[in-house]
Amino acid sequence: MSSAAPESKATDGTAQIGVTGLAVMGSNIARNFARHGYTVALHNRSIAKTDALLNEHGSDGEFVRTETMAEFAAALQRPRRALIMVKAGAPTDAVIEELAEVFEDGDIIIDGGNALYTDTIRREKAMAERGLHFVGAGISGGEEGALNGPSIMPGGPAESYKSLGPLLEEISAHVDGVPCCTHIGPDGAGHFVKMVHNGIEYSDMQLIGEAYQLLRDGLGMSAGEIAEVFTEWNTGDLDSFLVEITAEVLQQTDAKTGRPLVDVILDEAEQKGTGRWTVKSALDLGVPVTGIAEAVFARALSGSVPQRKATTGLASGELGERPADRDTFTEDVRRALYASKIIAYAQGFNQIQAGSAEYGWNVTPGDLATIWRGGCIIRAKFLNRIKDAFDEDPDLPTLIVAPYFRSAIEESIDSWRRVVVTATRLGIPIPGFSSALSYFDALRTERLPAALTQGLRDFFGAHTYGRIDADPAARFHTLWSGDHSEVEA
Ligand code: 6PG
Repeated sequence: MSSAAPESKATDGTAQIGVTGLAVMGSNIARNFARHGYTVALHNRSIAKTDALLNEHGSDGEFVRTETMAEFAAALQRPRRALIMVKAGAPTDAVIEELAEVFEDGDIIIDGGNALYTDTIRREKAMAERGLHFVGAGISGGEEGALNGPSIMPGGPAESYKSLGPLLEEISAHVDGVPCCTHIGPDGAGHFVKMVHNGIEYSDMQLIGEAYQLLRDGLGMSAGEIAEVFTEWNTGDLDSFLVEITAEVLQQTDAKTGRPLVDVILDEAEQKGTGRWTVKSALDLGVPVTGIAEAVFARALSGSVPQRKATTGLASGELGERPADRDTFTEDVRRALYASKIIAYAQGFNQIQAGSAEYGWNVTPGDLATIWRGGCIIRAKFLNRIKDAFDEDPDLPTLIVAPYFRSAIEESIDSWRRVVVTATRLGIPIPGFSSALSYFDALRTERLPAALTQGLRDFFGAHTYGRIDADPAARFHTLWSGDHSEVEA
């Protein structure tokens, strides 16, 4: 937009899309576009990465090698479409600024990284003021997905999707011929939805971890035996990418020691931050995403090395017997896992509905279930059920009450309670399973202890309360330090 690169304004290049930031994700997406017949302009801060891609994979399709941002812009057809695949945060801001300098009215800048949605809202506004379209696009599926078909969650102006959407849809994964990509909503909607996707991913992985630990410590099964259980589970309701790769990870033998790899990996889970962001946003929105929060905290706990060192081996109290029947308990764990997973998704979708209402995005939850069926990390057979549930009732207050999920939980509830009791009696930590069950029990409970909380708040802070027999908006206060009579506030 500045006069820094006037030559770029005179040219109209041949590339339909450009990718800047050619680490593995960026390279693979660029190759994916090229394999679909698009001419792809390549740019990277150091030219070595661009040349490495061209040397190793130049035969994938048509690429245009560029060294500077001005060359990059000149290589692109108008309206220009440039996908940024660099680290979230300051590096992304720097590249956006460089692009904005050489781009012109109506050109489209796409951020395909895991950006914080509030950054995306800010960037979209700033770019719109400069006449540019800014699209924050969540991209899921890791390196393999980027190359062979990811799930793509683009936000930004609807107008930009007209020009950009067909390209993204083409390179995305497809399920039953339907692309795993759709316009999510304005400004930060795409990155918000990707953030919650990752939160659900955390929750899914935590629940899988708990199931593994229950079979390992509750039944004394080996990694190989548990791998077989997961392989079997993957043929039913739990059919999903994460369950499938759990079996693969559990089957892996460590070349050095000959032991199962999972037994030699340090048990300290790391995180880049998207799960934490999900929980922070949920706290602000007031949405109880207990499953995601427990998963984030479970990772933090695993990494609390001094605390773990200081407490390992502390008294457990009297423990119960291991389950007598291996098959029965394994089936109980499967059902508990499925029910807890339903809760995690129900919570995540509630957060998306709340975020959409807060920011006026008009996100269609059923669309998300559709585009998460393939390409992404949480892809799972049961997303079809979620799509059906929202198709039937787009205003579903919670997935739990959709007929399919309601009966799935009813079928699992006894197993779920048995697993939570057994784990507690054996001293096996199951924050995901137990908090999901408590969440379900809390929702279905007619009277919660929140009435007492309100009474206490009124007592010490005159914060007032509503009454069951009055207009819900009316507030009352008891004169606790006076004659204990009630006044309307
Ligand atoms: C995806 C993944 C991807 C990444 C996670 C890992 O959808 O492809 O979610 O975005 O692997 O961000 O997150 P953690 O490092 O926080 O586990």
